[in-house]
Amino acid sequence: MSERTLEQLMADRYSCRNYSDRKLEEGILNQVLEAGRLAPTAKNNQPQKIYVLESDEALAKINALCKSIRGAQTVLMVAVDTDNLFNNPFQPGVNSGDQDAAIVATHMMLEAEKLGLGTCWVNMFSPAEAAKAFGLPENEKVVLLMPIGYKGPEAAPSPRHGERKDLSETTVRL
Ligand SMILES: Cc1cc2nc3c(=O)[nH]c(=O)nc-3n(C[C@H](O)[C@H](O)[C@H](O)COP(=O)(O)O)c2cc1C
Repeated sequence: MSERTLEQLMADRYSCRNYSDRKLEEGILNQVLEAGRLAPTAKNNQPQKIYVLESDEALAKINALCKSIRGAQTVLMVAVDTDNLFNNPFQPGVNSGDQDAAIVATHMMLEAEKLGLGTCWVNMFSPAEAAKAFGLPENEKVVLLMPIGYKGPEAAPSPRHGERKDLSETTVRL
């Protein structure tokens, strides 16, 4: 099968909410992590810290804190080092942390799609509780969770997956 274009990968990706028991091979996981490593970040500070939750103990902890893991055998917990964020002088009090983490996660999500894996972006959990459960240092803030793995037999796009607004509703040309 020929490689899918970026446009095909973006169209094919959907939020996976059913995973198989099959563990991710080390090489596959590394390809996903490498895609995140290449992401741009504000001032190239690279504040991301990716926690790979894969042990029985870690998975039990995250499943206790979040209902959206759905059987995934690996969960990427994307955090940022708050001592290493870009503080925008034009927006006092606003830093780049969430944006940096989102770009890193998006790179990983699309690489995962290319590799035939399912992912789901998850924010329905308490970042503070997660940081506490995994003993993160004070300066690290959890931004999102990303269950990742081989799709289960019931994996399918949600009925609303195809609903995207028309470009005319989301684009303003000035
Ligand atoms: C910021 C963000 C947070 C999300 N949080 C969750 C979540 O906690 N649980 C979940 O099942 N899906 C979550 N999603 C997935 C969205 O519901 C999904 O991307 C959206 O409905 C579009 O569907 P699609 O990804 O299949 O195209 C989240 C997505 C984003 C971008």
